[in-house]
Amino acid sequence: MRHLLAFSLAALIPATAAIAQESTGAENYAENCAGCHGEAAMGDGPLASMISVEVPDLTVLSRRYGGNFPLVDVVRKIDGRVQLRGHGDPMPVFGGMLRGASAVIDTADGDPIVTKAAVLAVADYLEGLQR
Ligand code: HEC
Repeated sequence: MRHLLAFSLAALIPATAAIAQESTGAENYAENCAGCHGEAAMGDGPLASMISVEVPDLTVLSRRYGGNFPLVDVVRKIDGRVQLRGHGDPMPVFGGMLRGASAVIDTADGDPIVTKAAVLAVADYLEGLQR
């Protein structure tokens, strides 16, 4: 994870142009995630008190995972490859984000990760919120 090389969103523009016009990472976050994780991603959305699993603060992921934003891990948790009870395991609750253009994340170990552009946009947005 340490030497993760992620395409910047700018590098993905040809693949994501269509979807980027429809919705940005921030909009996708507000629509699909803020209800639980909170507007500022600090784990305090209006639904957080109603579910029995604690909703994590997503602005401290870098700190919690050794100082680097765990992009691939975050992408897998959003697109459902890593199943979380809070995300509706076994059915991912973000079906809308799993349509549209694909995106590739290049990793230093030479193992590219394919996901959806909308998922990567949200992960990228969260990376920008780290404190
Ligand atoms: C229904 C409430 C809910 C919604 C909506 C939701 N989450 Fe979560 N999320 C949780 C809960 C609860 C957890 C804690 C892990 C678990 O469920 O086991 C979690 C965990 C995570 C994690 C793992 C954090 C860690 O500690 O590694 C990430 C990343 C995440 N969510 C991102 C998102 C994103 C991005 C969205 C929107 C696309 C989203 N979540 C929408 C409830 C939600």
